[in-house]
Order: sequence, then structure tokens, then C-alpha cells
Amino acid sequence: MRILVTGGAGFIGSHFARRLAAQGEEVVVLDRLTYAGNRANLEDVAHEFHQGDIADPRAVAEAAAGCEAIVNFAAESHVDRSILGPAEFIRTDVMGAQVLLEHARHNKLRMVHVSTDEVYGDVPLGAPACTEESPLRPSSPYSASKAGGDLQVVAYVRTFGVDALITRGANTYGSHQYPEKFLPLFITNAFDGQPLPVYGDGRQRREWLHVEDHCAAIELVLRAGASGEIYNVSGQERENMDVVRRILDLTGANPDLVQHVADRPGHDRRYALDSSKLRALGWSPKHSFDGGGLEETVAWYRGHREWWEPLKSGEYRAYYEQQYAARLSP
Ligand code: NAD
Ligand code: TYD
Repeated sequence: MRILVTGGAGFIGSHFARRLAAQGEEVVVLDRLTYAGNRANLEDVAHEFHQGDIADPRAVAEAAAGCEAIVNFAAESHVDRSILGPAEFIRTDVMGAQVLLEHARHNKLRMVHVSTDEVYGDVPLGAPACTEESPLRPSSPYSASKAGGDLQVVAYVRTFGVDALITRGANTYGSHQYPEKFLPLFITNAFDGQPLPVYGDGRQRREWLHVEDHCAAIELVLRAGASGEIYNVSGQERENMDVVRRILDLTGANPDLVQHVADRPGHDRRYALDSSKLRALGWSPKHSFDGGGLEETVAWYRGHREWWEPLKSGEYRAYYEQQYAARLSP
């Protein structure tokens, strides 16, 4: 099968491209190469590459020529950046999704739209996990833009009969994740003896999903999901401070590096997903966060300084200053 992987130079998209290519599928990547896109992520992956924007119908038509399916990973994906500047999120995450749907509609392609547990918003401690029927209550400009993309998918399924599906995955971890997100930021800062900026009390809870388990879920949905359906992909729930303590253990960093800083505005306390629907389709996770998953990830960053060190200069420094300088100043 010839498959268009949009956002394939990013974290999860590049793992997905590697997974499909290893099975002999023909992989075409369309990626705008924003700050988060990195062709080095695809170094060992057989693929055809197109640099372009999913919100540009011509770029999409060119890249999608001859493809039977689109799997959409392309997004502005970081909550803190969406608080600093929401507009780009709406362009890519909402309008980009719509352009891809329009292409799928007119060319009769299957489309899997990769979304997030964040569209359901905060799940209070003790409240049941979200099912695919739970209401969308996004809190951040990022999650609101992802919810907007999801609603475009739902509308295109219902109105135009497009063969589209949605996955909503938990916080994903593994190799090749851009070091702005919690785990790679804290792991690489720990290696460099830099502060570990914990937002607020650090009692927030996230579900952690290994990138390979996430990609296996998306592949299963692509191959066997029922048209028009939504599938949650859950992880293992942990409190942020427990994860920070584990990172200190695994890196051997000084616990004094931990600094509680001003909280993220609108910060969701907890996400929780019920993924029985996906499990009924045949998915089960193979990686355990505490039983090797986090340890293996820390080891990858330890062994691949040449991958992440260059990323932490230039544009990243400007972002880091804006996001953390005031928070970290005494
Ligand atoms: P990422 O930020 O690492 O990668 C995003 C990729 O999309 C980059 O390569 C970037 O260059 C590309 N891109 C951005 N705008 C584009 C545009 N307009 N046109 C073409 N390409 C563009 O993101 P990720 O963490 O790999 O996330 C991939 C998808 O999975 C996103 O849709 C995200 O919402 C979703 N998701 C992520 C997580 C997570 O924990 N990382 C969890 C659940 C769902
Ligand atoms: P993040 O990786 O940004 O993912 P999410 O989209 O779930 O917010 O953050 C994961 C958790 O870690 C979240 O509760 C916010 C917290 N966090 C910090 O405490 N400090 C940081 O510098 C970052 C980036 C995140």
C-alpha cells in the first residue's frame, strides 16, 4: 500500500513511517519542517519526501498522488507554545485537517486523523475514564484546535461519507521526541545539570504511552478500524512528581535541580482514557512505563546527545527564554 504520512518528520510520525516501511509499505511523507520537524528522524527509513504544508491543497494533491490512505500526524503539538501564540495551531490543526479531508473526499482515500486525550479536558481524580462518547471540553488553545480538527473529521464522515477515523492517544514517550515536552526536556536538562521546572505542585497526572504502542494502535485502526469511528489509546497513569523522581534516579542528577515554578495557565490536572473499544479490535500495549519503558528512553537520550544537543540552540533558546526565564529567576 502507498500511504501518505503527514507530519512524518516529527516524533510519532517518524516512528510510524519506520514501522510501515519495515513492513514493505510505500511511505510518502509530507512535512512542512517546522521547528519540530527533523529529517534526521527519517534517516533510516525508506520513504519519498515532500516538504510542504497540509493547509495547502496543491502540496497535499502532489504528495498524495497514487496514495490509498492518509495518516495525519502533522500538527502544532505543544500546549505551552499554544498559550504563547494560538493562531498557527488553528491554521495547521483545524484548517490543515480540513484540507486533507477535502482531498480524501474527492479521491476516495481512507484517512486516519491522529488526535489526543487532551480534547476531553480535565478528568477529576476518582471520575471515570473518558470513552469515545465523552464530551469534548478542551482547556488550552492546543487542545481546542485538536478538537476543532476532530469535529471536521466527524462532519466529513457524516456529510460526505468520507472514510475517516480518529485516534485519541495519551501522552507519548520514546526516542526522537523534541526536547520541549516534559520527558525529553527533563531528561536532557538532568544530563546537563540544568533546572527541572515543575509547573505548580507537580501533582498533575498524565497517562504515559510508549511511542511503539501508540503506532501499533494507529496501524491497527488504519487496517481494521470501522469507518467513521473514534478510538482512544490509553497509557499508564502517573503523577508528574513521581515521574520526576524516577528521572532523577535514572540520570543520577542532583535533586536540587527540581524547581517548582509558576503553573501553566489553565493546566489540566488529569487525563484518563478508556480504550476498551481499541482493545476489542485487538490492541494491547507491549511496553511498561516503569518496567523498562522510561529507562530505555533515558538510555536513548544518554546515547544520542548528537541528536538533541543541536536542537537545543537557535529557535529553541528563544522559546526557552520566553517560557522559562521569568519562571526560573529567583
Ligand atoms: P511533533 O511536534 O513532534 O511533530 C509534528 C510534525 O508536524 C513536525 O514534523 C512538523 O514539521 C509537522 N508539521 C507541523 N505543521 C505542519 C503543516 N502545516 N504541514 C505539514 N507538516 C507540519 O508532534 P508529535 O508529538 O509527533 O505529534 C504528532 C501527532 O500526534 C499530533 O497531531 C499530536 O496532536 C498527536 N498526539 C501527540 C501526543 C504526544 O504526546 N506527543 C499524544 C497524543 C496525540
Ligand atoms: P507536556 O509534555 O507539555 O504534555 P501535556 O500536553 O500533557 O501538557 O507536559 C506533561 C506534564 O508535565 C504536564 O502536566 C505539564 C508538566 N510540565 C512541567 O511540569 N514542566 C514543564 O516544563 C513541562 C514542559 C511540562
